[in-house]
Amino acid sequence: MNNLIVKNAAQVVTCSGFEGKRGREMSDLQVIKGGTVIVTGGIISHVLHPGEGIPVSERDYTLIDASGKALLPGFVDPHTHFVFGGYREEEFSWRMRGDSYMDIMNRGGGIVNTARATREATEEELIESGRQRLDAMMRLGITTVEGKSGYGLDRDTELKQLRVMRRLNETHPMDIIPTFMGAHAIPEEWKGKEDEFIDFNIREMFPLVAGEKLAEAVDIFCEKGVFSVEQSRRYLAAAREHGFLLKMHADEIVPMGGAELAAELRCLSADHLLQASDEGIRAMAEADVVATLLPLTAFSLREKYARGREMIDTDCMVVALATDLNPGSSFTASVPLLFAIACIYMQLSPEEAVTAFTINSAAAINRADYIGSIDVGKQGDLILLQFPSYKFLPYHVGMNIVETVIKRGEIVFS
Ligand code: NIG
Ligand code: FE
Repeated sequence: MNNLIVKNAAQVVTCSGFEGKRGREMSDLQVIKGGTVIVTGGIISHVLHPGEGIPVSERDYTLIDASGKALLPGFVDPHTHFVFGGYREEEFSWRMRGDSYMDIMNRGGGIVNTARATREATEEELIESGRQRLDAMMRLGITTVEGKSGYGLDRDTELKQLRVMRRLNETHPMDIIPTFMGAHAIPEEWKGKEDEFIDFNIREMFPLVAGEKLAEAVDIFCEKGVFSVEQSRRYLAAAREHGFLLKMHADEIVPMGGAELAAELRCLSADHLLQASDEGIRAMAEADVVATLLPLTAFSLREKYARGREMIDTDCMVVALATDLNPGSSFTASVPLLFAIACIYMQLSPEEAVTAFTINSAAAINRADYIGSIDVGKQGDLILLQFPSYKFLPYHVGMNIVETVIKRGEIVFS
């Protein structure tokens, strides 16, 4: 059971390592040409160079001949909002007409619009739509996904979203890492009482979520007209007291000092960062905060891209990539498009993009010791491409070239 040999791959793209990679290290994927990988009991037990004999009894293993194909660690998507009710296709056409994301939010659309639909949806409906999204992500090579709450903005719906993720984690092959994002937007009933809404999250929600172990991290949308730096500091500092890891949506639309705050609080990651200041980026690098960049969101909102090239070259940061799948600013989990934009517009090299969506994105969810690379001892999450090189990922623009997906040593898509 869960014993697998993937033999003679054109490339075994190991991404080897047990922590996030920074600067130049991001370019070294440690590729083994003609390598073989063995998964025993769901865990990678051997990574072999050509010519090394197979030290297990092949009879007890499923065999895959990977000649002509590249083998990679499963992709890790460290920032999504994949559990939600309803859609916002009207808002998309308004944006194409010239309305901004924040204009729409300010007139009662945006996140609060999805919160209305998510409050109305039953747990079963959310499980069903969530399952379909996970299936689609898995076919694109994603084997672990972070998922945020934040479309309830009230006690019961926030808990409902988190329980849906727990249920899906138990029943779907995808690993789901849940994040509590009570402070995603200000719901109608708390308008004008933003500080009190932060207090409500701190006093009521953190103990409940921590008590039921429903999330590992806590996140907040630190943005002009949403939550201030001061409110974010208070909320995140309290979250830390409950044992949560800290994440931020920082400096997405307006430069606010979000990156600086992420550094001050030593958050696990700060995400978006389109408008992050030079000092903020430097401070994050020094404080070892992962920069999670979301090019599909910048693309969908027609915003300028985060300065990934500089973050890698000048600041030597740990840069990760994520899809940000959500019904508003990035209604896509397109891994092919993610790779294409990261390379074509953000000027990451194919090697850096692969690192950013494997070992570095594992680091962004505190899992670099367990997933994100092909190393002995890590979970047997692997993907096989139709082509002999990882370089086809950005090059075959917009096309899904993932042929086989393996989760804990079992073929879950082929
Ligand atoms: O990461 N910016 C805030 N949160 C999400 C968007 C959520 C939504 O529009 O529904 C994001 O882009
Ligand atoms: Fe987001």
